[in-house]
Amino acid sequence: MRRPMVAGNWKMNGIQAEAAALVSRIEQGLGEVRRAELVVCPPFVLIPVVAEWLSGSRIAWGAQNLSAHKSGAYTGEISGTMLRDFGCSHVIVGHSERRALYAESDMAVAEKFRAAQNVGLVPILCVGETLAEREANETEVVVARQLDAVVGMAGIAAMDNAVIAYEPVWAIGTGKTATPEQAQSVHAFIRARLAQLNATVAERLRILYGGSVKAANAQQLFRQSDIDGGLIGGASLDAQEFLAICRAAG
Ligand code: 13P
Repeated sequence: MRRPMVAGNWKMNGIQAEAAALVSRIEQGLGEVRRAELVVCPPFVLIPVVAEWLSGSRIAWGAQNLSAHKSGAYTGEISGTMLRDFGCSHVIVGHSERRALYAESDMAVAEKFRAAQNVGLVPILCVGETLAEREANETEVVVARQLDAVVGMAGIAAMDNAVIAYEPVWAIGTGKTATPEQAQSVHAFIRARLAQLNATVAERLRILYGGSVKAANAQQLFRQSDIDGGLIGGASLDAQEFLAICRAAG
């Protein structure tokens, strides 16, 4: 059985004191979270603070982005090696905000995915359609394209050391969660598509749902057979809300 997972994407929020307070509150309330694997992804500069507070904790930490390059003349960028140096185990790649606001192409995302795995980071690969794409019945075409770019470059075996997050763009930060049935249908599609390449890898792969997940709707979503947890934005900034979501994951 797949181990449930909940990851918090803090996006560009917080300063050191807030980050410390948030992780210490989460840490204190962990007692009732049984099996779920937990990860928080703060902004780069808050990683050292989070690492200090969480060292020895069962909560892992990661970043929200990385460079596809190893090192060199890439002003303003952060490499996977640097993230490892600060104890990161995970990194989000292909978040829809990166794709839309920073023009990251499917190829660029695939390169980042590979760069992450090359240094032992577990990529959390985000895929998902916009509202216009959903309304044009293109959800599966878009998700397949995003997925195929990565699998084409990294190979299906790479999915054994990765997590996928299905995040419909229209559900992110809007309060409009996908219904459990809508989400399940895309999750099942993703798993089936990968199963065509390797059924065992597809069966083991965790597929998280992201987009306006809250304590109030988490349980319904996580009950779906192909939803293995969540990638949480806004609600991950509130310790009690985040903990309730973690408890819902199991
Ligand atoms: P919200 O939970 O704020 O909708 O954000 C989801 C998300 O983008 C997580 O990566």
